[in-house]
Amino acid sequence: MSLPNSIRLILSSALVIACGVVRADEVTFNKQVAPILWKNCASCHRPGQIGPFSLITYKDAAKRAEFIKQITNDRRMPPWKPEAGFGEFRDVRRLSDEDLKTLAHWADAGAPEGNPKDLPQPPKFVDGWQLGEPDLVLKMPKPFAVYASGRDIYRNFVITVPVDRDRTVAAVEFRPGNRRVVHHALLFLDAYGQARKRDGGDGQPGYATFGGIGILPTGGLGGWAPGSTPRRMPEGVGMYLAKGSDLVMQVHYHPDGKPETDLSSVGIYFTAKPATKIVGGIAVRSRSIDIPPGESHHVVHAQSQPLPTDVTTLAVFPHMHNLGREMKMTAVTPDGAELPLIWIRDWDFNWQGSYQYRQPVHLPKGTVLKVDAVYDNTADNPKNPSSPPKRVTWGEQTTDEMCLCGVSVVTETPADMKKIRSMNFAQLGAVLGGGILSLGDSKTDAGDSDKRARDEVLRQLPANGFAIPDAYKDKLARFDTNNDGRLDRAEVEAMPEPSRTRVIDAIRKKLEPEKTDKP
Ligand code: HEC
Repeated sequence: MSLPNSIRLILSSALVIACGVVRADEVTFNKQVAPILWKNCASCHRPGQIGPFSLITYKDAAKRAEFIKQITNDRRMPPWKPEAGFGEFRDVRRLSDEDLKTLAHWADAGAPEGNPKDLPQPPKFVDGWQLGEPDLVLKMPKPFAVYASGRDIYRNFVITVPVDRDRTVAAVEFRPGNRRVVHHALLFLDAYGQARKRDGGDGQPGYATFGGIGILPTGGLGGWAPGSTPRRMPEGVGMYLAKGSDLVMQVHYHPDGKPETDLSSVGIYFTAKPATKIVGGIAVRSRSIDIPPGESHHVVHAQSQPLPTDVTTLAVFPHMHNLGREMKMTAVTPDGAELPLIWIRDWDFNWQGSYQYRQPVHLPKGTVLKVDAVYDNTADNPKNPSSPPKRVTWGEQTTDEMCLCGVSVVTETPADMKKIRSMNFAQLGAVLGGGILSLGDSKTDAGDSDKRARDEVLRQLPANGFAIPDAYKDKLARFDTNNDGRLDRAEVEAMPEPSRTRVIDAIRKKLEPEKTDKP
């Protein structure tokens, strides 16, 4: 049975009004589609950016209408990993259900262009420093060559930070030198010159690692991904930049088919007055990872100690490698409430980042941070680095796994932040195996002069530390977080007590006879 046209029109307009959905035959590029693509896709999909093609013009978009429909419907694009409703973040890249329908209708209708008069002004993209001229610009010392095709590259560049005193930083802006290949960047600090030792080892600027930066960083300055907006810290809050630190800039490059070079830079904005609240971090991690081959849903749990003080959480940074599928972090407060901090259900190593909370999340003293991670070690996981799948344990290499979720926090007072730092050291020690080392029977309840002597030993210890003697391998190897067979200064510092004191005393004994050997 067919209805008269006029009734069909009334019925379908009623439907349009009832559902708030634009009718398929009314969707055009000029009217509805261009604004969606410009707002949500063009930050990466325009000439000179990381997206593999531009989505600015009708011609560019129309030939991919079906692809756009599918990929947005699967929520593979725009890339945004956190689950909606589990933590409220800034700079969310997520299309509304209505936008998805509009894009689908447009593809189904054969991608009509529409009336040129409907086309809004195309977006303007500013390409300068978004926060204005920085106080300090740190640049890669030399351009880095990115090959035309092959695996993605993770490269750490070590950059001297010319400050003559300790400073506090209000904002950091990363500026990719070549947006066609720079996928994202993470910024770390190294106060001990450990990264510098590895710099240029293979004849190219920087050094290669896969997961971390191959050393224990002494601080961090955030990160960057296409479309992220640099922001200033709230009044009075700052990131600590110790004099003599190097910036270690880890850049993830995605080759784009042509040989490219990159010369990225970082703008630093200091706080007007020294910040009274310093941003710190809490890492919740597990090294008890042992994933049998063929297992599709291997769960690893990790949790923090109860927080020794109230904290305010600014951002969260989940981290796994290629077998990772899912990571969820919740905070369980002392009264048993569970606060959602982040949930990523389709982990992708290539799209990792630091997610900033829209409203900082207050966590009371006694809160426990819990992490659940899921790994897929089957051949069905296309990202599995081993074929056939192999047993996978903790480590920094492509073929190893990690389970780490960090949060950046501020506390009310510096004394409270000290408590957080001690908790971190204790946690790291526990994660690394904990337990009591028995390297001789030195007193652990040291007097002040002993304490000063130990601090001095630590200060004098070369940044790259010492090779772990064979006899102590099974006791000390677990503190060797970068697996280089040595315990460096930061690794010794991070050890839990009383192991730390015992090791320092052992070093002290060893250092002294060595000194007398020399004339
Ligand atoms: C933050 C940057 C970014 C944004 C925003 C973004 N894309 Fe992408 N897109 C990429 C990158 C990079 C790739 C290349 C593949 C990859 O790295 O995942 C890509 C790939 C694609 C592909 C090809 C996928 C394939 O399998 O070859 C399509 C289609 C696509 N994007 C559509 C969109 C649409 C539509 C939007 C907006 C709704 C969008 N993208 C938003 C960065 C982005």
